Amino acid sequence: MPDAALHPDGASPAPDGERLASVGPAFLVRFSALLRTARTYDVSNDAFRHQLQDFMTLLLRMLEDEDEVALAVVADYFYLNGVRLRAQASLLAVYHALMGEFERRELGGVRFLHGVSAAETERFLQLFMAAESPAMAERLPEATLEARIEHIVPVHAMDLDREDLVRALDAEHTPASERGRAKRVFWRAVLGTKKVVVRAAQTGRPDLRQAKRLVQPVVDSIMKNEYSIVGLTALKDHDEYTYAHCVNVSVLSVSMGQSLGLKRQTLADLGVAALLHDIGKVAVPGEVLRKPGKLDANEWTMIRRHPLEGVKMMFRMPGLNGLTLDSMRVCLEHHMNFDRTGYPDVAHAWGQAAMSRIVAVADVFDAMTAHRAYQKRPLSPFEALQSLLGPTRVQFDPAVLWALVKTVGLYPAGSVLHTASNHVVLAISPNPADPRRPHCRVLVRPDGTPVSESAEETWDPMPGAESVTRVLAPEELTVDTQELLAA
Ligand SMILES: [Fe+2]
Ligand SMILES: [Fe+2]
Repeated sequence: MPDAALHPDGASPAPDGERLASVGPAFLVRFSALLRTARTYDVSNDAFRHQLQDFMTLLLRMLEDEDEVALAVVADYFYLNGVRLRAQASLLAVYHALMGEFERRELGGVRFLHGVSAAETERFLQLFMAAESPAMAERLPEATLEARIEHIVPVHAMDLDREDLVRALDAEHTPASERGRAKRVFWRAVLGTKKVVVRAAQTGRPDLRQAKRLVQPVVDSIMKNEYSIVGLTALKDHDEYTYAHCVNVSVLSVSMGQSLGLKRQTLADLGVAALLHDIGKVAVPGEVLRKPGKLDANEWTMIRRHPLEGVKMMFRMPGLNGLTLDSMRVCLEHHMNFDRTGYPDVAHAWGQAAMSRIVAVADVFDAMTAHRAYQKRPLSPFEALQSLLGPTRVQFDPAVLWALVKTVGLYPAGSVLHTASNHVVLAISPNPADPRRPHCRVLVRPDGTPVSESAEETWDPMPGAESVTRVLAPEELTVDTQELLAA
């Protein structure tokens, strides 16, 4: 049942693309919140009734202007009545969670037609929730018909005219396809890590098998020399940053390990150990972790216990093998520092394992560029790199610092650069062949005209004739780099 309204190319063009593009994010947020509440609460619960009401208000308002509201997901993008919705940095977690809901049910889209009611939506949600099991997923369109739900039509991914869609998308995004794949791997890892951490907090021990599954695709893309995923670690401005930090440290560590010549199996183990490096934080009270002001001595003691707490949790994992030992060591040693100035306090002769030295650098680089409540602004990735290579470099293994530069480049993703030809560009991912010439998105042309968001212009990578003349400070910027990185 290929459907014109679900067609991203707009076989039936949307009457007002701009209006849909602007209401789209709100629609996704409402829909996602509704699913989340439906999962947790009974339909009679107040929390659910509120969400349902909010969703219906928005949906009915949209139906005043549209023939129908058709939400489709194709190749990692949402389309609302054929209009592609841009991913806003702050909402990325919502987008990807919702995408996961569709994927698990092999759904390509849902159409809401005129006449849809709250009662009907409620019945549909019950079927939707039940369709999480694979056997039921396949039957969702049929089950919806059987339940006499006439104004909500789920469409199987298979029933969308995929070939057409993929062709249209390929034509539109050829240079970005690796980036598209990287985004999928990255966000799956973030949401998967959230599950691992939440589970570990409940059970008192991390699920190593699950962590391995999340890290595998990261190792695969880096082994294929696809580094877009390294660029994505520059995204900090979103709700799931706590979990993204674990993924960022894992991605950076694996990539650094590769440039240090580690073999695939070791990289896979390093990726898992890096993903779990902060798992002991689940034992630190949330108020302390999230405290906006300065910490007192007592609170610092609690924070500084997280490496030991992590090791204790890992002792509860079944079986003992190379990977569990590596993970314990990284957990224990990631704040120790190369010159033993960190914590926990150990004898000076203690040798920090190679993996721990890698994770320590990846951890500090990522943390320096993240928002912290007590700072006016985080360091830009370029400033963080400068600082790590400056006076604090004695805390880190010099070979590992070199691997960091090889991995993120001299101008890490997120840096805004002024070039010799008078272009202003945003670095979006590193170029391992030349750390001075990252892959970039052009922001301003030499004549001073800004490149509009829709007419995306990229350098893949920065041409050989170009060079960077200046790195702009965050204060000088008039664009939201986080939004552009997320796009
Ligand atoms: Fe830590
Ligand atoms: Fe950390």
